[in-house]
Amino acid sequence: MGFRESLTSVDGMKITASRSKNLARLPAHVAIVPDGNGRWAERRGLPRLEGHRAGGKNMRTMVEYLNEYQVKCVTLYGFSTENWGRPKEEISGLFRILKERIDGDVPKLHKKNVKVRHLGRIGELPEWLQESIRGAEKWTENNTGLTLSLAFNYGGHVEIVDAARRIAADGVPPEKIDEKLFSSYLYTAGLPDVDLLVRTADEVRLSNFLIWQTAYSEYYFTKVLWPDFGKKDIDQALLAYSQRERRFGALL
Ligand code: IPE
Ligand code: MG
Repeated sequence: MGFRESLTSVDGMKITASRSKNLARLPAHVAIVPDGNGRWAERRGLPRLEGHRAGGKNMRTMVEYLNEYQVKCVTLYGFSTENWGRPKEEISGLFRILKERIDGDVPKLHKKNVKVRHLGRIGELPEWLQESIRGAEKWTENNTGLTLSLAFNYGGHVEIVDAARRIAADGVPPEKIDEKLFSSYLYTAGLPDVDLLVRTADEVRLSNFLIWQTAYSEYYFTKVLWPDFGKKDIDQALLAYSQRERRFGALL
């Protein structure tokens, strides 16, 4: 089946315009594991950090494009609790690149009404980076457009541990703890669960990302390396999503 045919019927709706922005169903929350920066650089004979730099630049482009689609929430995995195991030059490079992107991109995202929030253990990051992240959150806190969540020093296991600790510290009686309450103690409190999880660079795993919030997500994996991941790749991921049948364990 060619690309045209694949566009013709989605949930009974006719979609004719190629790369249509009128997909039958859009995810409210797209989470992305932007993988492959290192390989992108190595293939060009560049230092790995150049791959991270290119990948970092691609983030705003992709967020703005998802905003054009009117996706409401985008979450990006920038640095995992496991990434501390990388060489310290790479780690400090990743921190610097995040700061550069915040300085360069948040003003532009702010103009587009994007609200920035951070997910993860911010207190373990260098002070100057904490300030930069908190500054971006504060500056954009009243924005009402797309919510961009930056998972930086994020781990799904520690997120659940942190939630459990806070529930205990608040003295919540055991019988009051249900899924709704638990969710409200996660870093993602207030965000909808992830509808679509995208991972680039041919890795087919979750890597401790949003493990609670992706329980019923649709997964989209691609071989494309993150710095090369572009608008047509987003189009494809959203099209694939719109064609999936989601039953949430029920018989519909
Ligand atoms: C993803 O790129 C970015 C981060 C984890 C920060 P990688 O650095 O994992 O790239 P590869 O997997 O080595 O190509
Ligand atoms: Mg990788």
